[in-house]
Amino acid sequence: MVDVSELQTVEHDILVIGAGGAGLRAAVECAQSGKNTAVICKSLLGKAHTVMAEGGMAAALGNVDARDNWKVHFRDTMRGSKFLSTWRMAELHAKNAPERVNELEEWGAVFDRTQDGLINQRNFGGHRYPRLAHVGDRTGLEMIRTLQDYGVHQGMEVYMECKALDLLLDADGRIAGVLCLWRDSGRFLLVKTRAVILATGGGGRCWRVTSNSWEYTGDGYDLAYQAGAELMDMEFTQFHPTGMVWPPSVRGTLVTEGVRGEGGILLNNKNERFMFNYIPDRFKSETADTIEEAEKWLQGVDGARRPPELLTRDVVARAILAEVKAGRGSPQGGAFLDIANRRDADFIKRKLPSMYHQFRELAEVDITREAMQVGPTLHYFMGGIRVDSDSQQTRVPGLFACGECSAGMHGANRLGGNSLSDLLVFGHLAGQGAVTYTNEDSGAPPAIDDEQVVRCIRFATDILNREEGTNPYLLHDKIQDIMGEHVGIVRTGEDLSRGVDLLEKLQEDVQQVKAHGASQFNAGWHEALDLRPMMLTSESVARAALLREESRGAHTRLDFEGEQENWGQVNIVIRKGDEGMEVEKINRPEPPEALASIAFASIEDLESGKVNS
Ligand code: FUM
Repeated sequence: MVDVSELQTVEHDILVIGAGGAGLRAAVECAQSGKNTAVICKSLLGKAHTVMAEGGMAAALGNVDARDNWKVHFRDTMRGSKFLSTWRMAELHAKNAPERVNELEEWGAVFDRTQDGLINQRNFGGHRYPRLAHVGDRTGLEMIRTLQDYGVHQGMEVYMECKALDLLLDADGRIAGVLCLWRDSGRFLLVKTRAVILATGGGGRCWRVTSNSWEYTGDGYDLAYQAGAELMDMEFTQFHPTGMVWPPSVRGTLVTEGVRGEGGILLNNKNERFMFNYIPDRFKSETADTIEEAEKWLQGVDGARRPPELLTRDVVARAILAEVKAGRGSPQGGAFLDIANRRDADFIKRKLPSMYHQFRELAEVDITREAMQVGPTLHYFMGGIRVDSDSQQTRVPGLFACGECSAGMHGANRLGGNSLSDLLVFGHLAGQGAVTYTNEDSGAPPAIDDEQVVRCIRFATDILNREEGTNPYLLHDKIQDIMGEHVGIVRTGEDLSRGVDLLEKLQEDVQQVKAHGASQFNAGWHEALDLRPMMLTSESVARAALLREESRGAHTRLDFEGEQENWGQVNIVIRKGDEGMEVEKINRPEPPEALASIAFASIEDLESGKVNS
């Protein structure tokens, strides 16, 4: 018998789930506002996917090129997203990013400097000007270090190695608490709280080749969905063009776009700079079509067009795949990324120290002398939990989401570097949203439903207690097989349908998963508990991808080439229905005129001040 009154129980005004950049920034906001705030994270503090955003955070500070400003950043973001970003979110992001970056510096982040002592900014794909504030190639790590150090001094409590299993609702459907599990002892923790901020990152572990570490199993999508929130844009999964392809044990590990931002180029096995062959028509006027022009851009020469290696990630990832398919790939099935022949060794070690060490230690490659071998790796979810742009609140009262697990900011394709600034901007707003909500909701604390708690505990312990069942590791492998084979970089309706069918069949085995052993230190049990979110994540990506019959940004359908105007007017929303998963197209609101005029303006008109907004 489970006696809920005997569970370890704590109480907080606001609970943040996830300790990456978004979660920590949200927690700082809540703690500074006087709220009793806690953060729980599945692994150790400091070990978040945020650290895999290495090359920098995009903010129109204008330190390296004074022509930069929020409007140009907003325009780049909307175009990069193939006009599917939520207009208001892209606006909030571009306007607020500089303030959030400066604030991070005040809190202790040590950025690289320009000659004049300002925060230095580097080039990145899809950004018109050098815009990424950076700390060598360890920017995400510096963000986490700063926020966790600053956050604990603001009084936030931290529960590490603690997994959120289910959100608990009161009789009116409001957030009332969270049932959690200590990973080491296998004991349950009941957190009573009025508000929850989800900041759980993405679900890259549904694929085998990914930059995500073991924690990223789509937990936030599942928690939100089960509680009645909606998911949006799940079909848009970003394959970063440059992950390591060798050795197999580290396949997928990120190779920062900063390598290309600092002058690295992509070559095929014929030593051709193949990206010149993959410039889409729409980018022709913005992208260099000669090597000389590309070089001028990297040197910051006025008016030059950017090199094709810095086209948006969807374009570069598909180009590498095409070269490999055409038999022009590197020996281990990728492309060559060469910076050795373009920058001297001191420069490389100073600007890209992590890449230097990563390749030396993991692949026995000295990147100051040899080219790297790289290929696409599942890196990021543009889609996620549907939220209100200004408050980050979901449709469940008391439930907020920010960072990668939320949807709207990046549309069909995210520009590199927009993620770190997204974490700061929307972590801040989610914190404010939760503070406002808890201030307004001052009645009796929401009551926990003991029966729901018992049901959730039973769901978890059944995995240990059933006599026999399927092996969780094999099931995880099967999910990765299905997603890799049927829901990859390029998709067809036939493949996607097959993927959906296979996932449906697999669900029967997942219901019968069995972990052997006791509840303490039981890695197999934790793997089994991660299956529900992985299945939900995989199914929502596959179903949304099947519904979207066009190619846009990171979603490429071989059977529906190119962007279709009607699909540019809709987002795909997913929710839990009585009969299972409901997948629906919803119309996007018309953009405010002032924002549309910026996004659609020519750069000349925008910069000459012809566009007033
Ligand atoms: O390539 C990178 O450094 C990744 C950055 C990002 O995803 O924003």
